Amino acid sequence: MIIDCDPGVDDAMAFIAAARWADLVGITTVAGNVPLVHTTANACRLRSLLGLDVEIHSGADGPLVGVQEFATHVHGETGLGDVVLPESDRGADSDDAVGYLVETTRSEEGLHLVPIGPLTNVALALRADPGLADRVASITLMGGSALGVGNVSAVAEFNVFADPEAADEVFRSGARLTMIGLNLTHQVRMGAVHAAQCRTVGSPVGDAMTGLLEFYTKFHLAEEEVSDGPVHDPCAVLAVTHPELFTLEDRHVQVELAGSHTRGMTLVDERGARASAAANCRVAYGVDADAVIALVMQAVREG
Ligand code: RIB
Ligand code: CA
Repeated sequence: MIIDCDPGVDDAMAFIAAARWADLVGITTVAGNVPLVHTTANACRLRSLLGLDVEIHSGADGPLVGVQEFATHVHGETGLGDVVLPESDRGADSDDAVGYLVETTRSEEGLHLVPIGPLTNVALALRADPGLADRVASITLMGGSALGVGNVSAVAEFNVFADPEAADEVFRSGARLTMIGLNLTHQVRMGAVHAAQCRTVGSPVGDAMTGLLEFYTKFHLAEEEVSDGPVHDPCAVLAVTHPELFTLEDRHVQVELAGSHTRGMTLVDERGARASAAANCRVAYGVDADAVIALVMQAVREG
């Protein structure tokens, strides 16, 4: 798989899961939770922490159109909470994420593209080469939501809200799409108990995960008065590596661009045979959350 990301506390958790469970081919970075300079630096530091020998290519530093949104209140000013990872021994391999996505999916067909940030790079790559949609095994994205769940607004999820035009182009691309939305990820929650377990691991990865979970839990305790938080991004990675843990339904999904209250909403047509158009996406509704969390924790222990 190729991961397109905006690290990001839960993106970092997705790195840990991918390092253990995926055949990770490469990484592209995009602005999202924090500016591109930080998402790229974080990806490089995580690559070093996990001993990954993969290329990292930075991409878009903002949405296709519209005002840029960050989520520093969730992920901290530099994106990994208050976790400070050692400087990376290697910087990004280029600033041409689009070229990397196009060329790598040409040289190796059947890759899964796993976007876990705003979809700007993916949309630009599809513009550069629409044939990418047919070459990838799937675009399995953490983003959007079924059943009207929102986080940045009553009905919009951050990755789609941050660049709705890009998301719209991806959902209309004809690619084999799997949407891991908030309706799914809110079922997979980790918190202080898991942080305490990670603390006993006694490794750089265990210590990093402890800090990430403790920061994330503090945010959710303050914001939602709950003692754990949804670990969004690892769900997208594990939906590719362990599909048996997820229940998916075919749906027609479209992105709202013009709504004054609903811009960035993924409108999922739940009407079955009466849906307004043919299904363009497999939407995740169910998950064996305990099994997903166990895979994340095993990846931490073995990281
Ligand atoms: O809405 C959750 C998503 O937005 C996650 O990918 C998180 O990292 C942020 O990018
Ligand atoms: Ca993310």
